[in-house]
Amino acid sequence: MSVRGKKICITGGAGFIGSTLASKLCAENEIVLFDNLDRNTIQHTRLLEDQNISLVEGDVLDYEAVRRVVAGADIVVHAAAVAGIDTVIKKPVKTMEVNMIGTANVLKAAQGAGVKDRVVEFSTSEVFGSHAFRSREDDNTVAGSAGEARWVYAVSKLAGEHLSHAYFKEFGLPTVSIRPFNVYGPGQTGEGAIQIFIRRALADEPIKIYGDGTQIRAWCFIDDMVEGLLCALENPVAVGESFNIGNSRAVTTIYGLAQTVCRVLGSKSEIRFMPPLSADVELRIPETTKAEELLGFKAKVNLEEGILGTAEWYRENVL
Ligand SMILES: NC(=O)c1ccc[n+]([C@@H]2O[C@H](COP(=O)([O-])OP(=O)(O)OC[C@H]3O[C@@H](n4cnc5c(N)ncnc54)[C@H](O)[C@@H]3O)[C@@H](O)[C@H]2O)c1
Repeated sequence: MSVRGKKICITGGAGFIGSTLASKLCAENEIVLFDNLDRNTIQHTRLLEDQNISLVEGDVLDYEAVRRVVAGADIVVHAAAVAGIDTVIKKPVKTMEVNMIGTANVLKAAQGAGVKDRVVEFSTSEVFGSHAFRSREDDNTVAGSAGEARWVYAVSKLAGEHLSHAYFKEFGLPTVSIRPFNVYGPGQTGEGAIQIFIRRALADEPIKIYGDGTQIRAWCFIDDMVEGLLCALENPVAVGESFNIGNSRAVTTIYGLAQTVCRVLGSKSEIRFMPPLSADVELRIPETTKAEELLGFKAKVNLEEGILGTAEWYRENVL
């Protein structure tokens, strides 16, 4: 089954993942993007020229605005959030408010509007804390120490994920929670090590690594991420579940990533080590068997291929 003839509301739709999803769905659906334009990937695209896409500027903290935009939607994808560790550390109050209250507003509005097909909510791989190896959806989540700014994001997202499950269990709202693992690719304009490394590498500028560079991550290309989302929208067994979406084979240390970016792009950038900025995640590799078995999702894009595709986009759009 594919998603056709639906009215789809994407909060955070001007952002990286939301706008890429919109570009895949707009040929056969009516899409409304709802975003306060704190970040703005769509400015680099021609999405708003598409007759099936419209933008409503607004804030998920404004319940009345959320209620209006969600009314009549068959599908709601709630991607609006304060994300990116630097932003989270600078604005922990806003992070908690937008990610918890904003998510509560979207779920309440979707429930009130009687959304029938799907409400997709974004959690995060950060809920697994600083050591996550082959982490499965039903593994324990880790809250980290209270007062450590980095964990504000994970806690706020986990609250949203619990609330989504609660709406499914208590009211039958067809929710799905997605936990993305380090997504990168064309259109990423917020934070994320790969995009920063690529932009620096393209300019032959120094690449800064915070900490000793041994932090391990699995990198998921945006097309794979969106494929996972489409699987979750299309497949009825997704309802009421959480899914890890990531690429458990595209794994490297942060130092290895900087070296790979420089090698693949033929860059002369020097790699510099800086003191760590905050608590960090030392190891994070997902187990994606649940998404494979239930949804038929499997990440396909390897790291070098993804770096090349991403670099091409930055060359053409941002630099
Ligand atoms: N990219 C990743 O690796 C990753 C990893 C884990 C989780 N996520 C989650 O996936 C979702 C999408 O992430 P993304 O990478 O596209 O981020 P993004 O920052 O590019 O997009 C988020 C969008 O939300 C909008 N927004 C922020 N606050 C808002 C508010 N108060 N009201 C309305 N809009 C608001 C921003 O303007 C932005 O366009 C987010 O919920 C994020 O937490 C992403």
